[in-house]
Amino acid sequence: MDTAKTIDTLTLKMFAFNAGDAKRIQHLMKVHRFAQLIARMEGLDTHTRFVVECAALVHDIGIRPAEAKYGSCTGKLQEQEGPAYARPMLEELGLDAADIDRICYLVGHHHTYTGIDWADYQILVEADFLVNLYEDGVGADGVRHALDTIFRTKAGRDLCTEIYGVQ
Ligand SMILES: [Fe+2]
Repeated sequence: MDTAKTIDTLTLKMFAFNAGDAKRIQHLMKVHRFAQLIARMEGLDTHTRFVVECAALVHDIGIRPAEAKYGSCTGKLQEQEGPAYARPMLEELGLDAADIDRICYLVGHHHTYTGIDWADYQILVEADFLVNLYEDGVGADGVRHALDTIFRTKAGRDLCTEIYGVQ
């Protein structure tokens, strides 16, 4: 499998899924790039990097269906609705079953910050925070709280500290 091509195809599929919603498309592009960067800085193997990148692209896929179904898109509803939409998209791309299961697990847990069981999960959460702290206009105290409670990898901590100018 040409993984770079698969990542590009998945990116375009997510554009189509979020067509007309430039904000969400910008969000997923940013989370993907931060996840890719942290994964490389942390020296993850190529296979795990691929899984992290796919998960970053589709992590918020549950927002639209949650809004349509419940008129609300809380973290829990996103987690609940997301995997059923991510799975067929990933199957169409011919990913291995184990990778699809893992990506769907990550989609279904990316707002759950207890029980983070491995680097792919941790990196997805950190990449999403690096983007959300900015998009939500979180102040210095909130950034410091996230550094204390969420960020674990050296790369994620260094990026957060530098980007937001906190110590
Ligand atoms: Fe997100």
